[in-house]
Amino acid sequence: MKRTKIKDALNATAPMDEILIKGWVRSKRDNKGFSFVALNDGSCLATIQAIVDHTPEIEEALSRIGTGASVGIVGELVESPGKGQKWEIRGKKLEVIGEADQETFPLQKKRHSDEFLRSIAHLRPRTNKYGAMFRMRSALAQAVHKYFSEKDFFYIHTPIITGSDCEGAGEMFRVTSLEAGSQLPPEEDFFGQPSQLTVSGQLSAEMFSLSLGDVYTFGPTFRAENSNTPRHVAEFWMIEPEIVFSDLSDDMDLGEDMIKYLVAHMLDNCAEDVELFAKWVDKGLMPTLQTILDKPFERVPYTEAIEILKKTKKKFEYPVEWGMDLQTEHERFLCEEKFKKPVYVYDYPKTIKPFYMRMNDDNTTVAAMDCLVPRIGELIGGSQREERMDVLVARMDEMGLNKDDYWWYLDSRKYGTAPHAGFGMGFERMLMLVTGVSNIRDVMPFPRTPKSLDF
Ligand code: 4AD
Ligand code: MG
Repeated sequence: MKRTKIKDALNATAPMDEILIKGWVRSKRDNKGFSFVALNDGSCLATIQAIVDHTPEIEEALSRIGTGASVGIVGELVESPGKGQKWEIRGKKLEVIGEADQETFPLQKKRHSDEFLRSIAHLRPRTNKYGAMFRMRSALAQAVHKYFSEKDFFYIHTPIITGSDCEGAGEMFRVTSLEAGSQLPPEEDFFGQPSQLTVSGQLSAEMFSLSLGDVYTFGPTFRAENSNTPRHVAEFWMIEPEIVFSDLSDDMDLGEDMIKYLVAHMLDNCAEDVELFAKWVDKGLMPTLQTILDKPFERVPYTEAIEILKKTKKKFEYPVEWGMDLQTEHERFLCEEKFKKPVYVYDYPKTIKPFYMRMNDDNTTVAAMDCLVPRIGELIGGSQREERMDVLVARMDEMGLNKDDYWWYLDSRKYGTAPHAGFGMGFERMLMLVTGVSNIRDVMPFPRTPKSLDF
């Protein structure tokens, strides 16, 4: 007999004479002559309740199971007299698949702190909250592909091992096949040159945008920035679209449309799981998401944003000055207090941005944009790219980059260059937005942060 997923059993339209359910015991309650066993198999938030009568065989099985054990139950699916669930199971057979040591099983019925659950990241998806989280993570990733597929974007697999530092921030993890402690030069290493884990697939995506048109990459990226914040991890997933014959304004349109689509998709497809977060994690979640759907995003030039930040009475930890990079406190002020909705800040000083961004006519700012959202700050960072060969080369020289390393990138400006733009959206930050969870470690199956590589 094939097992029925609990989600499907709970959505049944008619009773069933015989059904096989498999899952993990959430609770067991013994009564005189019968027991209640609540099972969850991860397919949905809800558990299904089984009532099993005490035959000698079943009593033997019951004596071996407790919370966390995996079992199979064969029985009849009948309407439940209890509140809150439509169906329950009248169990006839109870099979113990895997016992769970009750002395040490760390998940109790009470609510555990996020900090504690992080220390048992291998078991936390067994809880309601993290089960919901990782179902939503899966749905969000699939929605990203659905969005781009509906828009006729091509999906490009950009390399994970690379020889170039796209962002120029020097926060890359080295990749080597040389033995630890080896004094051999990079020429003797696997690729015959220094190699690193990518910080962004953008430069590769640009090449494909200048060939196939609208493209995107969606893959893991790595940054060795030593910042222990609730919004940074060393390994994260980035969604990077690149659009051609397009400018910064098209780029901002795309980001806004995509965020709205993803929020709507999650509300439509993960209602039960979203509700859990709205109820237990962030009471303001639904209004925040509704505002994102209903309101056009604000768009303010960087220079104007600096003026706004200087004028407010609010005290910031980092003083505001033209030329500085915005800190999270500034970003959150702009979208949470000033505009009360997502905000694009654009046209940043060239001095705080990478070489590839398009120079504006003022020769001091570049066509960059960040999309800031409530509670998180920067969700998207993007730009129009410098398509003019002479300007690009001048900028690379100014920044001291070795043009030989980027010969192939420069070729794209030599042969049929075209205006193009793109952005990177932090996938985890998008998931934080739709769950209201405030620590990025809690939206990742096994987060990688400084001094932490368990699991
Ligand atoms: O702003 P960033 O650095 O932009 C780029 O990498 C561009 N090359 C993207 C492009 O134009 N194709 O990163 C993009 C986004 C950020 O806005 C943020 O959401 C996320 O990636 N991000 C991180 N997320 C988690 N942990 C980190 N350490 C992150 N660094 C960036
Ligand atoms: Mg950025």
